[in-house]
Amino acid sequence: MSISIGIHDLSFATAEFVLPHTELAAHNGTEIGKYHIGIGQESMSIPGADEDIVTMAAAAAAPVVARHGSDRIRTVVFATESSIDQAKAAGIYVHSLLGLPSATRIVELKQACYGATAALQFAIGLVRRDPAQQVLVIASDVSKYELDSPGEATQGAAAVAMLVGADPALVRIEDPSGLFTADVMDFWRPNYRNEALVDGHESINAYLQAVEGTWKDYTEQGGRTLEEFAAFCYHQPFTKMAYKAHRHLLNYCGQDTDNDAVSAAIGRTTAYNTVIGNSYTASVYLALAALLDQADDLTGKAIGFLSYGSGSVAEFFAGTVTAGYRDNLRTDANRAAIARRTPVDLAGYRDLHERSFPTDGGDHATERHTSGPFRLAGISGHKRLYQAR
Ligand code: CAA
Repeated sequence: MSISIGIHDLSFATAEFVLPHTELAAHNGTEIGKYHIGIGQESMSIPGADEDIVTMAAAAAAPVVARHGSDRIRTVVFATESSIDQAKAAGIYVHSLLGLPSATRIVELKQACYGATAALQFAIGLVRRDPAQQVLVIASDVSKYELDSPGEATQGAAAVAMLVGADPALVRIEDPSGLFTADVMDFWRPNYRNEALVDGHESINAYLQAVEGTWKDYTEQGGRTLEEFAAFCYHQPFTKMAYKAHRHLLNYCGQDTDNDAVSAAIGRTTAYNTVIGNSYTASVYLALAALLDQADDLTGKAIGFLSYGSGSVAEFFAGTVTAGYRDNLRTDANRAAIARRTPVDLAGYRDLHERSFPTDGGDHATERHTSGPFRLAGISGHKRLYQAR
């Protein structure tokens, strides 16, 4: 008999500051409807000078470890596009900040926004091998495009921490998966760049091709039918993309694409991403958090997940919401993580955007910005220095 494996706990953190799109629109003369309706974004999270993927990841994971302990966690998989080191896994800093046991394996995964889904699937494999073990999957990203570029309005930052184990309290992840890979240059970031390069309109087409490709494979692998799903969590580089993707899927399947059907499938999944912005690897799991926090009772219902990472790799898979899941949600904390952000004005945002550490190996302290539990205190001898606040 196959055991039930999936997401046992889910917690997220975002950044200290928030820039409303009204500020950006006033600066660049964009009609605000393009942001609010055209791409479906209201505001974006902006990390303080002493925040990065590690501080957000540790802030997301700390409540998970506090609730469940770390005795069963023997693996941490950290997925990110915005890595801080070419060699050392960011998860090792999180391991240290959270005081996890030394008997832990830690690795970092990369494939643009898709990495956390690979991490989730690898975690399920590990748990299947030894159901007593749990895996901490972390997705953490700071999305950064050039100032005054079309991508700028889709930036954001967040981390999601998921505890993966047997008999999950939230969502059971099902077989099969539908897979799709294509060698495309829609979004990429050479090692010498802080900001992503993107062919915006090509990236939307590449995403839609991946929706078709994953669904085709999912169906061929014997997956569920479209009608069986109560909702769909898509990767949301901007929330309108989820609507485009679902409309495309319905069309591909020869179904009606009326607005009500699309809104019913997507509407409850966008609440967090619309105010946080693109969090790359974390985005599809923020969609899940929003769905579980907002919706009526979803017990026993099937949810479709479409994870897309430019370049490109994508995966469609299903999850079933488990009985009693509502007792294990973090709805208040999730809403507080968003509400606690401090508004930043355009000049402040642009200043933070352009900051980077000198590369001279000297001692460079960061300004105190974060009110979160962990901070990046500075850099010294090319080493990043993290501390509990
Ligand atoms: N009121 C309402 N809607 C308006 C409007 C107004 N006043 N003005 C414009 N719009 C609408 C447009 O009609 C358009 O909608 P449709 O796409 O439905 O036609 C929408 O607003 C956007 O307008 P444009 O296409 O003219 O906007 P743009 O040229 O500035 O580019 C973008 C938009 C391509 C998404 C750009 O923000 C970008 O490059 N973003 C980064 C790349 C990205 O997010 N790609 C997504 C797929 S790749 C991926 O998913 C991986 C990842 O995370 C990066």
